[in-house]
Parts: sequence; C-alpha cells; structure tokens
Amino acid sequence: MFAVHRRPAWAISESLATPENAFLNRRTLIKAMGFGLMAAGGLNAAQAEEADPTADLYPAKKNEAYKLDRTVTPEEINAHYNNFYEFGTQKEIAQEAQSLKIRPWEIEIGGLVDAPATIAFDDLVRKFPLETRLYRHRCVEAWSMTIPWSGFALKQLVEFAKPQSAAKFIRFETFLDPSMASGQNSFLYPWPYIEGVTMEEAANELAFVVTGAYDKPLLKQFGAPIRLALPWKYGFKSIKSIRKIDFVAERPVGLWEAIQPSEYGFWANVNPDVPHPRWSQANERVLHTGDVVPTQIFNGYGAQVAHLYKDMDPATLYM
Ligand code: MTE
Repeated sequence: MFAVHRRPAWAISESLATPENAFLNRRTLIKAMGFGLMAAGGLNAAQAEEADPTADLYPAKKNEAYKLDRTVTPEEINAHYNNFYEFGTQKEIAQEAQSLKIRPWEIEIGGLVDAPATIAFDDLVRKFPLETRLYRHRCVEAWSMTIPWSGFALKQLVEFAKPQSAAKFIRFETFLDPSMASGQNSFLYPWPYIEGVTMEEAANELAFVVTGAYDKPLLKQFGAPIRLALPWKYGFKSIKSIRKIDFVAERPVGLWEAIQPSEYGFWANVNPDVPHPRWSQANERVLHTGDVVPTQIFNGYGAQVAHLYKDMDPATLYM
C-alpha cells in the first residue's frame, strides 16, 4: 500500500499505451491548451513585472548542428504540461510554480574542486556565450516534446569549476524550501531533488546547461533559472532549478532512484528495448501532435553518445 503511494504519479502511465487512453489524453491536452491560452496573458504580465536582468541574452545564436526532423512543441503546450514535483504531482503546475523565487539565486560549486565557490546565477550565466539548440525531450512516461533550449555546454561549467582528478561524478541538487514549494511538504519524497552524471557524460558535447527556452529566460515551470538537458536520457535526469553542484567520487543516488531503484536507474539512457517494469518504452507519444512514433535508442543521439557505454550490457543502460 505504502509502496503504491510512493510511486511517482507519472508512473501510472502504464495504461497510456492503449489507444482509448491516448484519445482521452489528447482531450485533456486540448483542454489544457485552452487553459494555457487564457493563463498565458496572466503569466506574461506577472513576469514582465519582474524584469529579468538576463533578458538581454536572448535570443541566443542558433547552433545549426542541432536540427531535428520534428516540429517544435508550441510553448503554450510545453508550459502547461510539466513535471516539477516541488509544485505538485500533476502536470498543470504552471500557476503553482510562479511562487518559485529566482532572485537572488546563488549556486554553490563544491566537493572535489580546488576552490569551492558560491556564485550568483546572474554572474554565472554571463561567463559563457549562450547558444540555442533544438533538442528532443523524452520522458520515462513515454511522451516526448521538441524544445528550443538556450544555454551552454556542461563541459564549460566543468572547466570553470576545475575539478580534481578524484572526481568521478557530478551531483546536482535543487533548492529546498517547503515554504515556497508546497510539494516539498510531502514526506513521500526524499527532498531535495538530486541527480547525477559521470564526468565522461558531463564532458560530452550534448550535455547542456539550460538557462532559457523559446528565446527568453526559462519560465519558472521549466526549472528557472538553471537546469540540465541530457537529451539521450529520460527526462527525470534533467534536474530543474539547480542550487548546488558537487564533484564527487561516489555515484550519486537521484530522488527517483532513492524512491524506487527497480524502476528508475542511474543511467536512464533512452532504450526502446528495455521496458520500464510496468510499461513498454518501444513507442512514444509526441505531445503536440498526438502521434505515436517508435522510440530511438539514445533518443536518436547514438552517434554522439553510444561510445560512452560501449563496454556496458545494453540491458543495464537503463538501470
Ligand atoms: N527536476 C526537479 N527539481 N523536480 C522534478 O520534479 N522532474 C523531472 C525533470 N527534472 C523534475 C525535475 C522529470 S520527470 C522530467 S520529465 C523533466 O524534468 C520535465 O521537464 P519539463 O517540465 O520541462 O518537461
């Protein structure tokens, strides 16, 4: 019983594979879009009041190497279909997420580095030239989007942090403030949200630190002011609203892995041949079209990342 409650709500999507539910789901989505259009005016007004001091950095130059054969997910749809458990377990957390206070926002960089430091996001974001990349985004729940992210390569941040050779992994941590994020009052989750990658993964060109989307600073529901995008991995690896970055020797245990290690592994590489214990990963629903298409190994990014895992049994690429 308790185990059921501890399952992430997005784990219910076992049934989404049936055409009936896919249809119902599209209807829910259309409703959400209607709401989105209504709410969009309100959100924009609220955000205009805040006058983001990094707004001048966007639109960031497009990196033409990251083109895709899919259309971009409209912002209104993306902005009202989010996983951000700090603000609720449902997809429509956009309104709730507006209570996220993103200034001041300091990021602690520590662990196995020569000089641990705390740096304001507004300073960090100006240390590297920003670029825009079109990325696929594949959730472990078997839906996908296509997003124009802006930011810089994670490897640039690693160079900036100067890790010691004993560092084997990077551990990322989201903010912890239950007074601001109501979801963090739930004892069912081991807050704060944590995720990690190996140093080799972090050095890969695809690993991206995201500070903007749709040609402007990140909306709060996208994980403002700074998040990851690791497009060859399931979306839960792409941690939002990062507050702390530690270089460590031990493999970090992410929030979902801590809750249900048999269902959410460290590697979490997209693999159509390794089903989630409760549903298939063979196909995915493209959120903005409703099309169900075959999922690709490494989410279509095998040419860039497959070599990182060449000595691993493909079945362990997920766990
Ligand atoms: N990061 C934090 N801090 N909290 C979360 O709940 N959800 C993850 C990931 N990062 C999550 C998070 C999951 S399950 C997914 S699929 C993506 O964020 C969703 O990102 P999106 O809302 O921009 O699509």
